Amino acid sequence: MEALEDLLSSWDGEAIAVHRDRATGTLMFICVHSTRLGPAAGGTRMKHYATPADALRDGMRLAEAMSLKFASVQFPHGGGKAVIALPAPEIPHGDARRRLLREYGAFVQSLGGLYSAAPDMNTSAADMDVIAETTRYVFCKTERAGGAGDTAPDTAVGVLHGIRAVCRYVFGSDDLSLRTVLVQGAGGVGGHLIELLMDADATVIGADVDPKRLESLRELGVRTVAADDALATECDVLSPCAVGGVLNANTIPALRCRAIAGAANNQLDTPADADRLRSRGIAYAPDFVINAGGIMHGGGLEELHWTREELDVHLAGIGEAVYSILERAEREGISTDAAARGIALARLG
Ligand code: NAI
Repeated sequence: MEALEDLLSSWDGEAIAVHRDRATGTLMFICVHSTRLGPAAGGTRMKHYATPADALRDGMRLAEAMSLKFASVQFPHGGGKAVIALPAPEIPHGDARRRLLREYGAFVQSLGGLYSAAPDMNTSAADMDVIAETTRYVFCKTERAGGAGDTAPDTAVGVLHGIRAVCRYVFGSDDLSLRTVLVQGAGGVGGHLIELLMDADATVIGADVDPKRLESLRELGVRTVAADDALATECDVLSPCAVGGVLNANTIPALRCRAIAGAANNQLDTPADADRLRSRGIAYAPDFVINAGGIMHGGGLEELHWTREELDVHLAGIGEAVYSILERAEREGISTDAAARGIALARLG
């Protein structure tokens, strides 16, 4: 209990709602970090955690990152995140999953729009269709159900703009045919990004823990490296598109890249890692800025009713935002993470 109390008193967010599913004992946490720019929105993560405090900590941290992300791209929402903390590691399927998602939807609905759900780890657009049966506060349903569908392809488009921006800054040219880009994680975002990079004639190196994904990359003619070797492989741009925490005190000294620009959330293990990258002269595109294409796709198309052309203009804006953060960090002698946080926090008031 003490850990929970410490957690609650250390957080600067606005609200936390907790619901317990009686049938399975599953705890559901909805964390609302800020409603300063609008009602909260963010993904719903379905995962087993060792303790309820671990689940809550994850939700709080991710909700704060959502506030920074929305503020960075001036999108009219506050940061929120939900965690469905499964009592066992097995992910439910079939009727059990459907029942749990409907229960979760009713929980979201009970908050009256304070928070709107979207997909995240282990939840998909098809799950949003089920959640929508019991709440109207949900983004990114399938296109068949009238939603914006999968966010990964447009997240990849935003990351590509960010990669071009760091290349323009570091190498003086955003011509990707001159560059080697290593993509760590060839999943929804990374897989699309690899295709976009190949279309731009970049030299691409791919890494994944899934041997089937590596095989498909090789069939496309992409050079692959073992997942464990990815971070220390020589390249111009490293693009982390797998898991968080990959940039830390152990990995940073071994990096052999000039820039880092990828989709993964929470790439830095601690804030000090941003300074470690800066001292090594590695240009880092802050994750919560460069991976904002997903929220632009969901919220822009579904809520703000952007046309495809308008969405493309906003996605290109991610490159401009990354470039101005790189400039500001250099001007002020601070890390790019600190510069990006400064801009977002000023907007959060
Ligand atoms: P995904 O689950 O489709 O793909 C992740 C890929 O990384 C999988 O192929 C997996 O096998 C691989 N992987 C896992 N651990 C690895 C490791 N240690 N080394 C190499 N490969 C590894 O996930 P998705 O949707 O592509 O997201 C990737 C990252 O981007 C996540 O951190 C996610 O939170 C973040 N993100 C995704 C957005 C989206 O629209 N899908 C939006 C914003 C952020």
